[in-house]
Amino acid sequence: MNVRGAVLREMGRPRPYAESRPLEIVDLELAPPGPGELLVKVGAAGLCHSDLSVIDGSRPRVMPMVLGHEAAGEVLAIGGGEGADAGGFAVGDHVVLSFVPTCGSCGPCRAQRPALCEPGAAANAAGTLLGGERRWSAAGAGHLHHHLGVSAFADHVVVDHHSAVKVDPSLPHEIAALFGCAVLTGVGAAVNSARVGPEDRVVVFGLGGVGLAALLGARMAGAAEIVAVDVVEEKLEHARRLGATPVHAGDGAVEAIRQATGGGGDKVIETVGSARVLRQAYEATRRGGTTVTVGLPHPEQRLDIQAVSLVTEERTLKGSYLGSCVPGRDIPAFVAAYQEGRLPVDELLTHRIALDDVNEAFDRLAAGAAVRQAIVF
Ligand SMILES: NC(=O)c1ccc[n+]([C@@H]2O[C@H](COP(=O)([O-])OP(=O)(O)OC[C@H]3O[C@@H](n4cnc5c(N)ncnc54)[C@H](O)[C@@H]3O)[C@@H](O)[C@H]2O)c1
Ligand SMILES: [Zn+2]
Ligand SMILES: [Zn+2]
Repeated sequence: MNVRGAVLREMGRPRPYAESRPLEIVDLELAPPGPGELLVKVGAAGLCHSDLSVIDGSRPRVMPMVLGHEAAGEVLAIGGGEGADAGGFAVGDHVVLSFVPTCGSCGPCRAQRPALCEPGAAANAAGTLLGGERRWSAAGAGHLHHHLGVSAFADHVVVDHHSAVKVDPSLPHEIAALFGCAVLTGVGAAVNSARVGPEDRVVVFGLGGVGLAALLGARMAGAAEIVAVDVVEEKLEHARRLGATPVHAGDGAVEAIRQATGGGGDKVIETVGSARVLRQAYEATRRGGTTVTVGLPHPEQRLDIQAVSLVTEERTLKGSYLGSCVPGRDIPAFVAAYQEGRLPVDELLTHRIALDDVNEAFDRLAAGAAVRQAIVF
Protein backbone atom coordinates (compact mmCIF):
# COMPACT_ATOMS: atom_id res chain seq x y z
CA MET A 1 0.00 0.00 0.00
CA ASN A 2 0.95 3.64 -0.42
CA VAL A 3 1.72 5.57 2.79
CA ARG A 4 3.26 8.90 3.75
CA GLY A 5 6.27 8.87 6.02
CA ALA A 6 9.31 10.82 7.19
CA VAL A 7 12.58 9.52 5.76
CA LEU A 8 16.06 10.36 7.00
CA ARG A 9 18.58 9.86 4.17
CA GLU A 10 21.68 11.28 5.85
CA MET A 11 22.74 12.20 9.39
CA GLY A 12 24.40 15.39 10.53
CA ARG A 13 22.61 18.10 8.59
CA PRO A 14 22.98 21.45 10.39
CA ARG A 15 20.33 23.18 12.46
CA PRO A 16 17.93 24.82 12.01
CA TYR A 17 16.16 21.76 10.64
CA ALA A 18 13.34 23.99 9.40
CA GLU A 19 15.87 24.99 6.71
CA SER A 20 18.11 21.91 6.25
CA ARG A 21 15.03 19.58 6.36
CA PRO A 22 16.74 16.29 7.29
CA LEU A 23 13.38 14.52 7.32
CA GLU A 24 11.70 14.30 3.94
CA ILE A 25 7.99 13.64 3.92
CA VAL A 26 7.50 11.28 1.00
CA ASP A 27 5.21 8.64 -0.44
CA LEU A 28 6.39 5.15 0.45
CA GLU A 29 5.42 1.68 -0.62
CA LEU A 30 4.64 -0.53 2.37
CA ALA A 31 4.61 -4.27 1.69
CA PRO A 32 1.93 -6.39 3.40
CA PRO A 33 2.81 -7.90 6.80
CA GLY A 34 4.56 -11.25 6.70
CA PRO A 35 3.81 -14.14 9.05
CA GLY A 36 3.88 -12.93 12.67
CA GLU A 37 3.71 -9.31 11.58
CA LEU A 38 0.99 -6.68 11.94
CA LEU A 39 -0.15 -3.82 9.74
CA VAL A 40 -0.85 -0.93 12.12
CA LYS A 41 -2.65 2.32 11.31
CA VAL A 42 -0.65 4.81 13.35
CA GLY A 43 -2.82 7.10 15.47
CA ALA A 44 -0.01 9.15 16.96
CA ALA A 45 3.77 9.16 17.22
CA GLY A 46 5.94 10.95 19.77
CA LEU A 47 9.26 12.71 19.15
CA CYS A 48 12.09 11.49 21.38
CA HIS A 49 15.63 12.74 21.81
CA SER A 50 16.84 9.37 20.51
CA ASP A 51 15.33 10.31 17.11
CA LEU A 52 17.14 13.64 17.30
CA SER A 53 20.37 11.77 18.09
CA VAL A 54 20.03 9.85 14.83
CA ILE A 55 19.32 13.08 12.92
CA ASP A 56 22.39 14.83 14.38
CA GLY A 57 24.60 11.74 14.04
CA SER A 58 25.32 11.19 17.72
CA ARG A 59 23.55 7.84 17.58
CA PRO A 60 24.50 6.51 14.15
CA ARG A 61 22.10 4.15 12.37
CA VAL A 62 21.87 2.58 8.93
CA MET A 63 20.50 4.96 6.32
CA PRO A 64 18.08 5.60 4.74
CA MET A 65 15.55 5.07 7.50
CA VAL A 66 11.91 5.84 8.27
CA LEU A 67 12.46 7.50 11.64
CA GLY A 68 10.45 7.40 14.89
CA HIS A 69 10.05 4.77 17.58
CA GLU A 70 7.26 5.89 19.93
CA ALA A 71 3.79 5.17 18.58
CA ALA A 72 0.31 3.83 19.12
CA GLY A 73 -2.38 2.79 16.71
CA GLU A 74 -4.82 0.17 15.55
CA VAL A 75 -4.18 -3.24 13.99
CA LEU A 76 -5.60 -3.31 10.45
CA ALA A 77 -4.29 -6.66 9.24
CA ILE A 78 -2.40 -9.69 10.43
CA GLY A 79 0.33 -11.35 8.37
CA GLY A 80 -0.74 -14.71 7.04
CA GLY A 81 -4.38 -13.64 7.36
CA GLU A 82 -6.96 -13.63 10.14
CA GLY A 83 -6.52 -16.69 12.33
CA ALA A 84 -2.77 -16.86 11.66
CA ASP A 85 -0.60 -16.90 14.75
CA ALA A 86 0.57 -13.40 15.54
CA GLY A 87 0.80 -13.34 19.30
CA GLY A 88 -2.95 -13.41 19.78
CA PHE A 89 -3.53 -9.99 18.19
CA ALA A 90 -6.78 -9.38 16.34
CA VAL A 91 -7.82 -6.83 13.74
CA GLY A 92 -9.12 -3.77 15.58
CA ASP A 93 -6.83 -4.14 18.60
CA HIS A 94 -5.27 -0.93 19.84
CA VAL A 95 -1.55 -1.30 20.37
CA VAL A 96 1.42 0.57 21.78
CA LEU A 97 4.68 -0.14 19.97
CA SER A 98 7.82 -0.81 21.98
CA PHE A 99 11.29 0.02 20.62
CA VAL A 100 12.99 -3.29 21.40
CA PRO A 101 11.28 -6.28 19.79
CA THR A 102 11.38 -9.02 22.38
CA CYS A 103 11.55 -12.52 20.95
CA GLY A 104 10.53 -14.15 24.23
CA SER A 105 12.83 -17.12 23.86
CA CYS A 106 16.47 -15.93 23.96
CA GLY A 107 18.47 -15.97 27.21
CA PRO A 108 17.77 -12.38 28.28
CA CYS A 109 14.07 -12.67 27.36
CA ARG A 110 13.75 -15.85 29.43
CA ALA A 111 15.52 -14.06 32.30
CA GLN A 112 12.85 -11.31 32.19
CA ARG A 113 15.32 -8.83 30.71
CA PRO A 114 13.83 -8.28 27.25
CA ALA A 115 15.59 -4.90 26.88
CA LEU A 116 18.61 -7.08 26.11
CA CYS A 117 16.81 -9.39 23.65
CA GLU A 118 19.55 -10.70 21.36
CA PRO A 119 17.62 -11.11 18.10
CA GLY A 120 15.86 -7.80 18.95
CA ALA A 121 19.18 -5.96 19.29
CA ALA A 122 20.49 -7.53 16.08
CA ALA A 123 17.38 -6.51 14.13
CA ASN A 124 17.48 -2.97 15.53
CA ALA A 125 21.15 -2.60 14.60
CA ALA A 126 20.44 -3.87 11.08
CA GLY A 127 17.36 -1.65 10.68
CA THR A 128 15.07 -4.59 9.96
CA LEU A 129 12.02 -6.10 11.61
CA LEU A 130 12.64 -8.99 14.02
CA GLY A 131 12.37 -11.53 11.19
CA GLY A 132 15.11 -9.77 9.22
CA GLU A 133 12.83 -8.24 6.59
CA ARG A 134 12.32 -4.68 5.45
CA ARG A 135 8.81 -3.72 4.37
CA TRP A 136 9.46 -0.16 3.18
CA SER A 137 10.55 0.99 -0.21
CA ALA A 138 10.54 4.32 -1.99
CA ALA A 139 10.68 5.17 -5.66
CA GLY A 140 14.33 5.37 -6.70
CA ALA A 141 15.68 4.52 -3.22
CA GLY A 142 14.96 0.80 -2.95
CA HIS A 143 14.35 -0.65 0.49
CA LEU A 144 14.42 1.67 3.49
CA HIS A 145 15.35 0.70 7.04
CA HIS A 146 13.06 0.41 10.03
CA HIS A 147 13.88 2.44 13.13
CA LEU A 148 13.97 0.18 16.20
CA GLY A 149 11.34 -2.10 14.69
CA VAL A 150 8.77 0.71 14.79
CA SER A 151 9.40 3.58 12.29
CA ALA A 152 6.67 5.62 13.89
CA PHE A 153 6.69 8.65 11.57
CA ALA A 154 4.34 7.20 8.96
CA ASP A 155 0.58 6.89 8.77
CA HIS A 156 0.80 3.09 8.55
CA VAL A 157 3.56 0.72 9.63
CA VAL A 158 4.32 -2.98 9.53
CA VAL A 159 5.78 -4.32 12.78
CA ASP A 160 6.63 -7.68 14.21
CA HIS A 161 3.99 -8.65 16.79
CA HIS A 162 6.82 -8.88 19.35
CA SER A 163 7.08 -5.07 19.06
CA ALA A 164 3.42 -4.52 19.99
CA VAL A 165 1.47 -4.52 23.25
CA LYS A 166 -2.34 -4.45 23.32
CA VAL A 167 -3.89 -1.56 25.25
CA ASP A 168 -7.32 -0.29 26.29
CA PRO A 169 -8.91 1.27 23.16
CA SER A 170 -10.39 4.11 25.22
CA LEU A 171 -6.89 5.57 25.61
CA PRO A 172 -6.33 8.51 23.19
CA HIS A 173 -3.60 7.57 20.68
CA GLU A 174 -1.41 10.58 21.51
CA ILE A 175 -1.35 9.54 25.17
CA ALA A 176 -0.95 5.83 24.41
CA ALA A 177 2.05 6.56 22.15
CA LEU A 178 4.02 8.04 25.05
CA PHE A 179 3.90 4.71 26.86
CA GLY A 180 6.05 3.21 24.10
CA CYS A 181 9.20 5.13 24.97
CA ALA A 182 9.03 8.08 27.41
CA VAL A 183 6.87 6.33 29.99
CA LEU A 184 8.35 2.87 29.58
CA THR A 185 11.87 4.31 29.83
CA GLY A 186 11.38 6.97 32.50
CA VAL A 187 8.87 5.33 34.80
CA GLY A 188 10.71 2.03 34.35
CA ALA A 189 14.01 3.68 35.31
CA ALA A 190 12.42 4.82 38.58
CA VAL A 191 10.43 1.74 39.52
CA ASN A 192 12.43 -1.11 37.93
CA SER A 193 16.03 0.10 37.65
CA ALA A 194 16.25 2.40 40.70
CA ARG A 195 13.55 0.55 42.65
CA VAL A 196 12.43 3.81 44.23
CA GLY A 197 10.64 3.35 47.55
CA PRO A 198 9.07 5.61 50.18
CA GLU A 199 12.34 6.15 52.03
CA ASP A 200 14.17 7.45 48.99
CA ARG A 201 15.39 10.93 48.25
CA VAL A 202 15.36 10.89 44.44
CA VAL A 203 17.19 13.20 42.04
CA VAL A 204 16.36 13.41 38.32
CA PHE A 205 18.81 15.06 35.91
CA GLY A 206 17.08 16.24 32.72
CA LEU A 207 13.37 17.01 32.50
CA GLY A 208 12.50 16.03 28.96
CA GLY A 209 9.93 13.35 28.22
CA VAL A 210 12.05 10.64 29.79
CA GLY A 211 13.18 12.60 32.86
CA LEU A 212 9.72 13.98 33.57
CA ALA A 213 8.35 10.43 33.30
CA ALA A 214 11.03 9.31 35.79
CA LEU A 215 9.88 12.09 38.11
CA LEU A 216 6.27 10.89 37.79
CA GLY A 217 7.42 7.31 38.40
CA ALA A 218 9.32 8.32 41.53
CA ARG A 219 6.29 10.23 42.75
CA MET A 220 4.04 7.23 42.11
CA ALA A 221 6.48 5.04 44.06
CA GLY A 222 6.05 7.38 47.02
CA ALA A 223 9.57 8.89 47.07
CA ALA A 224 10.20 10.90 50.23
CA GLU A 225 11.65 13.75 48.24
CA ILE A 226 12.36 14.53 44.57
CA VAL A 227 14.93 17.01 43.30
CA ALA A 228 14.72 17.92 39.61
CA VAL A 229 17.65 19.33 37.63
CA ASP A 230 17.59 21.02 34.22
CA VAL A 231 19.03 24.00 32.35
CA VAL A 232 15.64 25.28 31.17
CA GLU A 233 13.70 27.48 33.59
CA GLU A 234 10.24 26.41 32.31
CA LYS A 235 11.09 22.76 32.93
CA LEU A 236 12.17 23.52 36.48
CA GLU A 237 8.91 25.41 37.01
CA HIS A 238 6.98 22.43 35.63
CA ALA A 239 8.81 20.09 38.02
CA ARG A 240 8.05 22.43 40.91
CA ARG A 241 4.33 22.26 40.06
CA LEU A 242 4.64 18.47 40.20
CA GLY A 243 6.00 18.66 43.73
CA ALA A 244 9.74 18.44 43.08
CA THR A 245 12.48 20.75 44.36
CA PRO A 246 14.05 22.47 41.33
CA VAL A 247 17.82 22.86 40.99
CA HIS A 248 19.42 24.74 38.12
CA ALA A 249 22.00 22.62 36.26
CA GLY A 250 25.58 23.86 36.19
CA ASP A 251 28.67 24.03 38.34
CA GLY A 252 26.87 24.57 41.63
CA ALA A 253 24.26 21.86 41.00
CA VAL A 254 25.92 19.05 42.93
CA GLU A 255 26.35 21.20 46.03
CA ALA A 256 22.75 22.44 45.76
CA ILE A 257 21.49 18.85 45.50
CA ARG A 258 23.54 17.79 48.53
CA GLN A 259 22.03 20.66 50.47
CA ALA A 260 18.49 19.90 49.35
CA THR A 261 18.79 16.20 50.17
CA GLY A 262 20.99 16.43 53.25
CA GLY A 263 23.97 14.68 51.66
CA GLY A 264 22.90 13.50 48.20
CA GLY A 265 20.21 11.39 46.59
CA ASP A 266 19.63 7.76 47.50
CA LYS A 267 18.56 7.21 43.90
CA VAL A 268 19.83 9.56 41.20
CA ILE A 269 18.52 9.16 37.66
CA GLU A 270 20.38 10.75 34.74
CA THR A 271 18.32 11.36 31.57
CA VAL A 272 20.43 13.89 29.65
CA GLY A 273 22.80 11.81 27.53
CA SER A 274 26.14 13.32 28.52
CA ALA A 275 29.05 11.72 30.39
CA ARG A 276 29.72 15.05 32.08
CA VAL A 277 26.20 15.14 33.48
CA LEU A 278 26.45 11.47 34.44
CA ARG A 279 29.52 12.32 36.49
CA GLN A 280 27.53 15.05 38.25
CA ALA A 281 24.74 12.57 38.87
CA TYR A 282 27.25 10.17 40.41
CA GLU A 283 28.66 12.93 42.61
CA ALA A 284 25.16 13.93 43.68
CA THR A 285 24.49 10.37 44.87
CA ARG A 286 24.82 9.71 48.60
CA ARG A 287 27.14 7.05 50.08
CA GLY A 288 25.50 3.68 49.57
CA GLY A 289 23.22 5.11 46.90
CA THR A 290 22.41 4.16 43.33
CA THR A 291 23.04 6.18 40.18
CA VAL A 292 20.91 5.09 37.22
CA THR A 293 21.91 6.26 33.76
CA VAL A 294 19.29 6.44 31.02
CA GLY A 295 20.64 9.08 28.61
CA LEU A 296 22.48 7.95 25.48
CA PRO A 297 25.77 9.85 25.04
CA HIS A 298 27.76 9.75 21.81
CA PRO A 299 29.63 6.39 21.69
CA GLU A 300 33.00 8.15 21.97
CA GLN A 301 32.27 9.75 25.36
CA ARG A 302 34.06 8.26 28.39
CA LEU A 303 33.05 8.48 32.05
CA ASP A 304 35.52 9.80 34.63
CA ILE A 305 34.61 9.02 38.24
CA GLN A 306 36.58 8.30 41.40
CA ALA A 307 36.95 4.52 41.15
CA VAL A 308 37.55 3.83 44.83
CA SER A 309 34.31 5.52 45.86
CA LEU A 310 32.35 2.69 44.27
CA VAL A 311 33.97 0.38 46.82
CA THR A 312 34.40 2.37 50.00
CA GLU A 313 31.02 4.04 49.68
CA GLU A 314 29.26 0.91 48.43
CA ARG A 315 27.75 2.71 45.48
CA THR A 316 25.88 1.26 42.55
CA LEU A 317 26.08 2.64 39.04
CA LYS A 318 23.68 1.00 36.61
CA GLY A 319 22.41 1.47 33.11
CA SER A 320 18.73 1.34 32.26
CA TYR A 321 17.56 0.51 28.75
CA LEU A 322 13.82 0.39 28.02
CA GLY A 323 13.42 1.18 31.73
CA SER A 324 14.48 -2.43 32.45
CA CYS A 325 10.86 -3.16 31.55
CA VAL A 326 9.03 -6.21 30.32
CA PRO A 327 6.78 -4.32 27.88
CA GLY A 328 3.92 -6.84 27.94
CA ARG A 329 3.83 -6.64 31.73
CA ASP A 330 4.73 -3.00 32.39
CA ILE A 331 2.85 -1.09 29.66
CA PRO A 332 -0.55 -2.38 30.88
CA ALA A 333 0.50 -1.72 34.50
CA PHE A 334 1.56 1.85 33.71
CA VAL A 335 -1.62 2.43 31.68
CA ALA A 336 -3.68 1.23 34.67
CA ALA A 337 -1.76 3.63 36.94
CA TYR A 338 -2.52 6.44 34.47
CA GLN A 339 -6.21 5.56 34.40
CA GLU A 340 -6.32 5.45 38.21
CA GLY A 341 -4.79 8.94 38.35
CA ARG A 342 -1.51 7.81 39.90
CA LEU A 343 0.61 8.53 36.82
CA PRO A 344 -0.44 11.77 35.08
CA VAL A 345 1.18 11.09 31.71
CA ASP A 346 -0.74 14.05 30.17
CA GLU A 347 1.90 16.22 31.88
CA LEU A 348 4.43 15.03 29.27
CA LEU A 349 2.48 16.06 26.17
CA THR A 350 3.20 19.69 25.29
CA HIS A 351 2.54 19.80 21.51
CA ARG A 352 0.30 18.08 18.97
CA ILE A 353 1.69 18.48 15.43
CA ALA A 354 1.20 17.34 11.83
CA LEU A 355 3.67 15.02 10.04
CA ASP A 356 4.64 17.88 7.71
CA ASP A 357 5.87 19.96 10.67
CA VAL A 358 8.26 17.34 12.02
CA ASN A 359 11.49 19.22 11.11
CA GLU A 360 10.34 22.36 12.93
CA ALA A 361 9.37 20.17 15.90
CA PHE A 362 12.90 18.74 16.11
CA ASP A 363 14.25 22.31 16.26
CA ARG A 364 11.94 22.82 19.24
CA LEU A 365 13.16 19.61 20.91
CA ALA A 366 16.82 20.53 20.31
CA ALA A 367 16.21 23.95 21.86
CA GLY A 368 14.62 22.43 24.96
CA ALA A 369 11.35 24.20 24.15
CA ALA A 370 9.14 21.10 24.27
CA VAL A 371 8.66 18.01 26.38
CA ARG A 372 6.84 15.42 24.28
CA GLN A 373 5.41 16.43 20.90
CA ALA A 374 3.06 14.00 19.23
CA ILE A 375 2.40 13.75 15.52
CA VAL A 376 -1.32 13.10 15.29
CA PHE A 377 -2.37 11.27 12.12
N1 LIG B 1 17.77 4.28 27.96
C1 LIG B 1 16.73 4.27 27.13
O1 LIG B 1 16.08 3.25 26.95
C2 LIG B 1 16.33 5.54 26.44
C3 LIG B 1 15.08 5.66 25.85
C4 LIG B 1 14.69 6.89 25.34
C5 LIG B 1 15.55 7.96 25.36
N2 LIG B 1 16.80 7.79 25.89
C6 LIG B 1 17.73 8.90 25.99
O2 LIG B 1 17.38 9.65 27.15
C7 LIG B 1 17.76 11.00 26.98
C8 LIG B 1 16.57 11.91 27.24
O3 LIG B 1 15.60 11.76 26.23
P1 LIG B 1 14.40 12.82 26.12
O4 LIG B 1 13.60 12.44 24.93
O5 LIG B 1 13.74 12.99 27.43
O6 LIG B 1 15.25 14.15 25.77
P2 LIG B 1 14.88 15.69 25.91
O7 LIG B 1 15.74 16.43 24.97
O8 LIG B 1 13.40 15.87 25.82
O9 LIG B 1 15.29 16.01 27.42
C9 LIG B 1 16.61 16.23 27.84
C10 LIG B 1 16.55 17.28 28.94
O10 LIG B 1 17.87 17.48 29.48
C11 LIG B 1 18.02 18.86 29.74
N3 LIG B 1 19.44 19.17 29.87
C12 LIG B 1 20.31 19.51 28.89
N4 LIG B 1 21.53 19.72 29.43
C13 LIG B 1 21.41 19.49 30.76
C14 LIG B 1 22.32 19.54 31.84
N5 LIG B 1 23.61 19.88 31.67
N6 LIG B 1 21.87 19.23 33.08
C15 LIG B 1 20.58 18.89 33.27
N7 LIG B 1 19.67 18.84 32.28
C16 LIG B 1 20.09 19.14 31.05
C17 LIG B 1 17.31 19.51 28.58
O11 LIG B 1 16.99 20.87 28.87
C18 LIG B 1 16.07 18.64 28.45
O12 LIG B 1 15.01 19.09 29.29
C19 LIG B 1 18.36 11.08 25.57
O13 LIG B 1 19.76 10.90 25.66
C20 LIG B 1 17.72 9.90 24.88
O14 LIG B 1 18.48 9.47 23.77
C21 LIG B 1 17.19 6.62 26.45
ZN1 LIG C 1 12.81 7.17 22.73
ZN1 LIG D 1 14.77 -12.28 23.09
